[in-house]
Amino acid sequence: MAFMLPSAEMQIAGGSAAPETLEHYRARGGYGGFQRARAMEPDAVVADVEAAGLLGRGGAGFPTGAKWRLVRATEGTARYLVVNGAEGEPGSMKDRVLMARAPHAVLEGLLIAAHALAATQVLFYVNDEFQDALSALREAVATLGAVPGAAEWASRLVLVPETHVYIAGEETALISVLMHQAAQPWHKPPYPSDRGYQGCPTAVNNVETLAAVAVLMQHDPRWFQAERPALFSVSGDVAAPGVYERPLGYRLDQLLADAGGPPPGHAFTAVLPGGYSMPPVFPAQFGVALEPGALRALGSGLGASIIAVASNRTLGAVAHDILAFFARESCGKCPVCVKGSQHLAEALGPAASAALSPDQLAGVLALAAKYRKKGICSFLDSAAHVAEAITPHLGVAR
Ligand SMILES: Cc1cc2nc3c(=O)[nH]c(=O)nc-3n(C[C@H](O)[C@H](O)[C@H](O)COP(=O)(O)O)c2cc1C
Repeated sequence: MAFMLPSAEMQIAGGSAAPETLEHYRARGGYGGFQRARAMEPDAVVADVEAAGLLGRGGAGFPTGAKWRLVRATEGTARYLVVNGAEGEPGSMKDRVLMARAPHAVLEGLLIAAHALAATQVLFYVNDEFQDALSALREAVATLGAVPGAAEWASRLVLVPETHVYIAGEETALISVLMHQAAQPWHKPPYPSDRGYQGCPTAVNNVETLAAVAVLMQHDPRWFQAERPALFSVSGDVAAPGVYERPLGYRLDQLLADAGGPPPGHAFTAVLPGGYSMPPVFPAQFGVALEPGALRALGSGLGASIIAVASNRTLGAVAHDILAFFARESCGKCPVCVKGSQHLAEALGPAASAALSPDQLAGVLALAAKYRKKGICSFLDSAAHVAEAITPHLGVAR
């Protein structure tokens, strides 16, 4: 199945394919969703998105329709749509591939959202490491004049390429950057839907969320619930890492097989189905459906990417890499986050090369408990959560 992308599988290693043209996108139904949406009252568009049950694809899984409803409930003020093209977590590649290969799918969703929100302006943040994405988007925007009704919204769209740091992908930090402030989150509330860009109601949406809105509106909520289109970044120890368009609920073992299986001569030992922020699952659990409910039942969840771990490296080495990443990327606003992420990385240091002793293991778990729910955003909590979930699988040394 390929609804958002022009083809169902896009391998990163496969070199650069040209972005899909407006002609090609239209030939597969593109911009039909925008035409349907603009013939509808904005509230009816929001109702369709709510009825489809679309959950945001930026990591937090917040219902998109509910977010738009909150923004629409405000009156007498400017409203903003902020598009999140930050994608800073290692392993995730779906957003950059989507922007670079299917820029019109993202733009169609953006036009629908702008109409539904009656947005004053649309600010599209793009991580400036993604030069392919930026040039594809610029070219696609330049052709929007040929799409009936699009010119008005295109004139309110600003592409904002930014030198990226990981925390800038968090929605309040992202808004701060757009307002020329430091890339640091603020404590919520206020939520962006209430007070965001320039202090006005703002919907922040991930680029895949918007592409999903486009295909949803090209069809209808019932179709969307049946097809459940989604993109999965598959990285780590697989023969064919890349972006795979598969329905939500697709089995993990099938996706791993689609991605070429483990490297030759090795076997999978674990998978992180929610990237850097969710606990691992193990081979006996690989029959799990990739959807929030089924993964929750295993104590895990979906996130930015699916990271495979095979017998060519240890889970301990992966855990250490993840915690070292968190320690490097803490933005510095909360001392507890700076200190906590460093402590966790140091405590997991020995796991990079050996099993943990019972004392070392207990030490990591104590630190993880200490740092859960600390800091003003979910950054340190994610680091502690992952450390807490992986560590019990790393011990045996005496
Ligand atoms: C540390 C951190 C980094 C994040 N990075 C991204 C990112 O790169 N891209 C993204 O879309 N959302 C990211 N998010 C989630 C955003 O805060 C926000 O939930 C999302 O953009 C909302 O869009 P959605 O509702 O369409 O998913 C991040 C969150 C945190 C806590």
